[in-house]
Amino acid sequence: MTLKDRCPVIQFSDFGDERGKLVVIEGGQTIPFDIARVFYIYGSDSEVVRGQHANRVSEFVLVNVAGTSKVRITDGNEEFIVNLDRPMTGVYIPPMIWKDMYDFSPDSVLLCLASTHYDGNEYIRDYEKYVAEIKAGNT
Ligand code: TYD
Repeated sequence: MTLKDRCPVIQFSDFGDERGKLVVIEGGQTIPFDIARVFYIYGSDSEVVRGQHANRVSEFVLVNVAGTSKVRITDGNEEFIVNLDRPMTGVYIPPMIWKDMYDFSPDSVLLCLASTHYDGNEYIRDYEKYVAEIKAGNT
């Protein structure tokens, strides 16, 4: 399976009418996990790089509900970049994938849906260590 297959871009249902837009994301249906946690990132500027970690357990879906940003996704071997530039488009990130979020527009609100409650111990924040673990097959 390619990295892009493992980290699919997902188009959400967009119920637009003359009153405006309404986008729906349902845990376990639109996205492949039940949502345990929601957080959002805003006020990051174009110079900032966030993320810079992999998670041993958590799955995520990232959506720019306002503004734009980019996420660089890698498994230490393949890499690709997703432009998060539409409120109805997200990307699914499974465990043990390294991600960097960057190029935030001034109005960026990056919504992050997570499959777990927060546990700082499941983060790998050292890229060399991450790559070593992947190479060792310790996923
Ligand atoms: P961090 O992981 O650096 O954010 P990002 O990956 O989005 O750049 O988290 C920043 C701080 O917020 C850090 O002190 C941990 C805390 N935090 C929580 O307490 N709960 C959470 O769900 C998240 C995502 C972060």
